[in-house]
Amino acid sequence: MMCTFQADEVMRDQPAEISYEKKLFSKKYYIMTPGPTEVPHEVLKTIISDEALLPNYWEIYDVDVKLVKKLLNNDGEVIIMGGGATVGLEALVSTLINEKTRTLILSAGYFGEVIAKLIKIYHGKVDVIRERQGKVPSLEAIEKYLSKNNVDYVVFAHCETSAGTIFDIEEVARVVKENSHAKIIVDAVSTAGAIPINVNSDKSGIDAVVFGVQKALNMPPGLAIVGLSKNIVEEMEKLEPKGYYLNLKLWLDYWKIKRILPSTPPINLLYGLKVSLERIFSEGLQNVYRRHLFVSKKLRNALRKMGLRIVAESEEIASPTVTAVYMPNGVDSETVVNDMWRKYGVLVATALGEISNRAIRIGHMGITATLDNIFVVTYALSKTLANRGVNINIENALSSLT
Ligand SMILES: Cc1ncc(COP(=O)(O)O)c(C=O)c1O
Repeated sequence: MMCTFQADEVMRDQPAEISYEKKLFSKKYYIMTPGPTEVPHEVLKTIISDEALLPNYWEIYDVDVKLVKKLLNNDGEVIIMGGGATVGLEALVSTLINEKTRTLILSAGYFGEVIAKLIKIYHGKVDVIRERQGKVPSLEAIEKYLSKNNVDYVVFAHCETSAGTIFDIEEVARVVKENSHAKIIVDAVSTAGAIPINVNSDKSGIDAVVFGVQKALNMPPGLAIVGLSKNIVEEMEKLEPKGYYLNLKLWLDYWKIKRILPSTPPINLLYGLKVSLERIFSEGLQNVYRRHLFVSKKLRNALRKMGLRIVAESEEIASPTVTAVYMPNGVDSETVVNDMWRKYGVLVATALGEISNRAIRIGHMGITATLDNIFVVTYALSKTLANRGVNINIENALSSLT
């Protein structure tokens, strides 16, 4: 069942039995979902500014492409399209995959399965190394498969957002490159801007990435970004993809030769993207990456202190951007999500896939990845569970965060 939320239905309790409650909840509400995430005022202001509503996009597109290349350490090309991240993913598939292509998908859950489905629609031959939610396919399994099979592409979702698990992208790239000539395509929808991703021909680099802007980039949804390494751009030269909007070769040719795009982009969002990326660079990429690691570890720690079980089965595969956590037996995830919103103004999400009724997901992406937010979400979850009759030591959970 779909949860629906309205901004005016938050009826937050204002008890002050514990002193730190007073400093909690300084904002009307807290968007702690794994996307779309909170949008900073600067970005909001920019996307409705006069400048951002002018019809020309040429200069701002160029500026954004340069900034994205810097984010991805990219030696090839970047394409920014109007649409959700899935538009970029389908464009990659539509451009690169045909009935002759053989692909290995590494699936850790819901979004891994979406990738497999999509490639099959384009008649690609698909093999899947699959793990249940909470685990990710091992490097050994990937190496073993590649030692016996030739594939053109290895594709995976960097963070399996449905379960809060993550692949070690550099290690997967290394294993794939050492054992095959396959190109690596990564869905980094819930990691780009929060975890290092290198799209280049280096040993640990990947060949293609896709992501949206409504996660760690803290923008409203509406842009799909594709990063391509120099190698894959050269490979694309040899292909003759069908399609128009989803044909990335056409996007590159149009821009290079005519300095136009095949379709008008959401120009105001291109202006917002510049602000969003500049914010990240001004904090410093390494600081941003460290902050996500630090905050996510603190949250997992606090959740364990509450007696809850994290879906990711080990710390090595727990995502710095989204945490999925099982609810105690007999407590339905949707009820918890609704209670947290209505009583505390804290918006989280149910899990997706097979664990959807049993787990909730907490996003900590971009500006929402702060210790203050983790404190608020831990408090709201503890109280919600306690109100539902679960025996929770709130003090214990919160004290690990101070
Ligand atoms: C890993 C992953 N891939 C793909 C998507 C789909 O992105 P969009 O809704 O922008 O098309 C999501 C959305 O949550 C995601 O987390």
